Amino acid sequence: RTQTTPEVLCIGQVLMDCIIKGWNNTSCKERVQTADSVTLSPGGDTFNESVVLSRLGHSVRTVCILGNDLTGNILANLLADSGIYTDYIIRNNTVHTPVAPLLVNTDGNRKSLNAFSRLDDFLQISPSLFKRVRIVSLASLFRPPLTRPETITAICREAKASGAIVTADTKLPLQTPVTLEDIKEALSYIDYIFPNEEEARFYTKKNDYSDMAEVFLNYGVKNVIIKTGQNGCFAKNHKISLSLPAFRVTATDSTGAGDNFAAGFLSALLRGNALKDALAFATACAAICVQSVGATSGVQSRVQVEKFLSDTDYRAI
Ligand code: ADP
Ligand code: NA
Repeated sequence: RTQTTPEVLCIGQVLMDCIIKGWNNTSCKERVQTADSVTLSPGGDTFNESVVLSRLGHSVRTVCILGNDLTGNILANLLADSGIYTDYIIRNNTVHTPVAPLLVNTDGNRKSLNAFSRLDDFLQISPSLFKRVRIVSLASLFRPPLTRPETITAICREAKASGAIVTADTKLPLQTPVTLEDIKEALSYIDYIFPNEEEARFYTKKNDYSDMAEVFLNYGVKNVIIKTGQNGCFAKNHKISLSLPAFRVTATDSTGAGDNFAAGFLSALLRGNALKDALAFATACAAICVQSVGATSGVQSRVQVEKFLSDTDYRAI
């Protein structure tokens, strides 16, 4: 089979968020309740990261599991419309494409509801998929279809064997947590890992950023980047450790901030940037993301991000 080689293979969760805003659960005994708005929005870290990478000018192949249903059609079409290779999206008749209600309460608190799914059962990865790919990104480690140590390990092993840079963004588990010890072989193949602060604390059981990073480094991860929300990020490898502040912007919706950060970082790596410059580009993408509603409505192009960076005196922050 002949296939086009993308620069990035993005593997993981693609789903539809159903955003319910302004629902007040004090009215929960009434048969008909109201909310300010109920809307659908495509998401999942892998969807967001793929779309943003494509907007930044990179060729991407998304690998995910979708049902053979309306939601699956919409998501696959949206990815294809963004110029992403969708030929390795696995459509399965026995699963529902995940739809995740996201309750944004009147007080701004958010709660999401995820149906337990068996998406992991259907993830098949052929070694030919990795050939000449420059980056293999596990965009949502520990969420379906990436919840099994054997699947995670097989992907990371193949990716590394093919010579690709291997990256992973983590999520908190939905059900039984996988421990770092369970995926220790996989960790030894990972070049960059991007947990947020809460995820890093959960998986490492440490409180200090440097100690959290050290746990991953001891498992053989080459570079650890801990995303710390409006504080920015902390990065550590065997040679250096550094913190970079976030941009001071008015954040209206932080959904997908981490995915835009990851996409920006990968884009900078593909262009040969060093760690610090890649972090600055990633931070700019995330800052653009948080200023608009939705995970993929902020970053539109590389030119836009470069302009944002040159208009903002980063050293002054
Ligand atoms: P995740 O979305 O994965 O939970 P974070 O919440 O840490 O990750 O956000 C990722 C990145 O987005 C941060 O490292 C930071 O650069 C940027 N970011 C998040 N919140 C804000 C904010 N309020 N203002 C500016 N940048 C932000
Ligand atoms: Na994340």
